[in-house]
Amino acid sequence: MGLTHRIAVEDDIPSLSLVMDAAIAELQRAFLDPAQIASSRMIMGLDRQLVADRTYFVIQEGGAVAGCGGWSRRATLYGGDHTPGRDAAVLNPATEAARVRAMYTHPAFARRGVGRLILRLCEDAARAEGFTRLELMATLSGRALYSQCGYTDIEAIEDSRGGAAVPLVRMGKTIT
Ligand SMILES: CC(C)(COP(=O)(O)OP(=O)(O)OC[C@H]1O[C@@H](n2cnc3c(N)ncnc32)[C@H](O)[C@@H]1OP(=O)(O)O)[C@@H](O)C(=O)NCCC(=O)NCCS
Repeated sequence: MGLTHRIAVEDDIPSLSLVMDAAIAELQRAFLDPAQIASSRMIMGLDRQLVADRTYFVIQEGGAVAGCGGWSRRATLYGGDHTPGRDAAVLNPATEAARVRAMYTHPAFARRGVGRLILRLCEDAARAEGFTRLELMATLSGRALYSQCGYTDIEAIEDSRGGAAVPLVRMGKTIT
């Protein structure tokens, strides 16, 4: 059975939260220690704004949710509903980079092209709104996917707001 995609709606939120929890716990284990994974929950997870904006995708195989992720025309670069310092300002496509946001693959579907499919959907949608560039804040778990898909490093940072320092890399890609 192949992967299908659609725009997420509010009724999807409970099942998307389960996928996010599993991805955060399982797919970061090769890259972070348990304290860093716990800390990362402060800066990861569901952002309802993306669902409300209809810029968030659900990937399914049959009835099973294989993953989710999206893009944004708003300034917030990363984080969930609970992360401090969010900024809903609308970006200018002529001068600013749209965001790739909240990418999660259910561990049972890892390395089957879910992440690559979501990035293609995000790039097509952002381009259709006139953006010529995308930026994101990559976890170490996501970095290889983004590199494979043409995103290059801008800046490495650490975010300690959840406790242990979590390494992150800001990355970007021109999509003209
Ligand atoms: C990051 C994440 C979404 C990737 O999802 P995915 O659906 O498994 O990615 P894909 O199958 O599309 O991978 C495409 C390519 O990216 C690279 N890649 C992806 N994950 C990789 C990994 N763990 N190690 C090495 N390369 C990887 C590979 O080149 C892969 O192609 P291949 O499998 O043919 O070798 C997933 O690992 C995840 O949910 N991680 C935890 C949450 C997270 O950190 N999200 C990112 C927030 S910025």
